[in-house]
Amino acid sequence: MDSADITADLSEVLYTKADIETRLAEIGAQVDRDYAGKNPLLVGVLNGAVMVMADLSRTLHIDCAMDWMAISSYGMGTQSSGVVRILKDLSTDLEGRHVLVVEDIIDTGLTLTYLMQNLASRNPASLEIMAMFRKPDAMKAEIDVKYIGFDLPNQFVVGYGLDYAGRYRNLTDVGILAPHVYS
Ligand code: PRP
Repeated sequence: MDSADITADLSEVLYTKADIETRLAEIGAQVDRDYAGKNPLLVGVLNGAVMVMADLSRTLHIDCAMDWMAISSYGMGTQSSGVVRILKDLSTDLEGRHVLVVEDIIDTGLTLTYLMQNLASRNPASLEIMAMFRKPDAMKAEIDVKYIGFDLPNQFVVGYGLDYAGRYRNLTDVGILAPHVYS
């Protein structure tokens, strides 16, 4: 699905499929350089990171492994609380591994604050973050992100893994959801 399929649902297209591909190729080249010979483990956080994990990993020319976590945030409505429950843990032992967490979005930053503490306690050789999107005006916690795709305005954004009520994850572009969809 692209933005032309749902023009009435979007008030603005922020990044197209081509913008995302170009940025991912740049980030992939940096990851290739930084992790040469290190066989990094890419850790995806379900569900939203599926798209960026699949696309970023395929830009790489180095060997890498992939694993997945599913987590659930306790909290009110759609707001992160920072209290996180692990629904599906990794299958891989992180001891001595170079770990790159791959996320679709950092919103408040509370989910990653918890996750990074949890993963750091498993003694990886290194632990870094790649996030496709970040909302600087929504952040409540300082997160040290090594690779960032794009910053977003603090509005309801959908596409490329980002959903509204389970919809729009398969939108290849990224845009601001029109208010009539959710009000
Ligand atoms: C999203 C995203 C991050 C988290 C970021 O996941 O994938 O994990 O929210 O929010 P925060 O920075 O405010 O903590 P979500 O809980 O929406 O689940 P999903 O990946 O299944 O969409």
